[in-house]
Amino acid sequence: MVGDTFPTGCAYSDKIVFHEFFAANPDIKNPAYQTQLGVYEKGGGLEQVDMSWGHDEFFYHIAKEYLPEPALYMVRYHSFYPGHREGAYDYLMNDHDREMFQWVRAFNPYDLYSKSASKPDPKELKPYYQGLIEKYFPRQVAF
Ligand SMILES: [Fe+2]
Repeated sequence: MVGDTFPTGCAYSDKIVFHEFFAANPDIKNPAYQTQLGVYEKGGGLEQVDMSWGHDEFFYHIAKEYLPEPALYMVRYHSFYPGHREGAYDYLMNDHDREMFQWVRAFNPYDLYSKSASKPDPKELKPYYQGLIEKYFPRQVAF
């Protein structure tokens, strides 16, 4: 799954790409989920927040036992463009999230629209990435 990620259980920001399609989401009819804070506490931190499911959240749950925290923030929130680029949902974050989001923003130049026109050579790249995988992950991951 790709595209912007966003908090569930609270009002949708108009900073989410294609937010007009939330009209078809059943959560929009649940008043408990459509206030600014919804089911969350103000400033309670993103750890309390259930984000929409996507490749960010999927890989975060694989990597959370192995990677350092700044890397986990990059993994988990890199598609949270409404948050890290548009400043939406700041009221859900705590100061630790705001500090860690400097890492999410530092990762951004390597995300969306950063791809090269020439096709990368997997054979040439594999030793580099294999080395990183071996540095941070055991042979078998648990999740
Ligand atoms: Fe991604």
